[in-house]
Amino acid sequence: ARILVLNGPNLGRLGTREPEVYGSQNLDDLRKVLASDAPNVEVDVRQTDSEPELMSWLFEAVDTRTPVILNPAAFTHYSYALRDAVSMVTSAGIPLIEVHISNPHARESFRHNSVISAVASGVIAGFGFDSYRLALTQLTR
Ligand code: DQA
Repeated sequence: ARILVLNGPNLGRLGTREPEVYGSQNLDDLRKVLASDAPNVEVDVRQTDSEPELMSWLFEAVDTRTPVILNPAAFTHYSYALRDAVSMVTSAGIPLIEVHISNPHARESFRHNSVISAVASGVIAGFGFDSYRLALTQLTR
């Protein structure tokens, strides 16, 4: 089995980006922790700052029927294009879990709304990298 773990803009800077908010671990650390949590699953961790690229990966998820863990980063709050692509995934019956490292509801008001959540299978936020680990547990149970 395979799971796509897709990360949006600025998440390539994890480790050095606002460590007080996002922690000091980077995407390679995330790759390692998820791989060791689910050794029988091919966990494909990707990051892009590009909205079209992120959308193309969601189309790939539809075409290959691959479950998705998605951290849409700032796109969460305003990208209707991404929302429509997420809706394509979940309406095809493929699970997609929205995750956030921080708890956006405890932060600036512009982070309180997600245009993605209504079309995601579920949402996990506020637990650092454990948000991804909890999502992976759900997708592999
Ligand atoms: C984030 C929260 C978003 O508000 C922010 O724009 C991010 C990261 C998180 O993982 O906590 O880039 O999605």
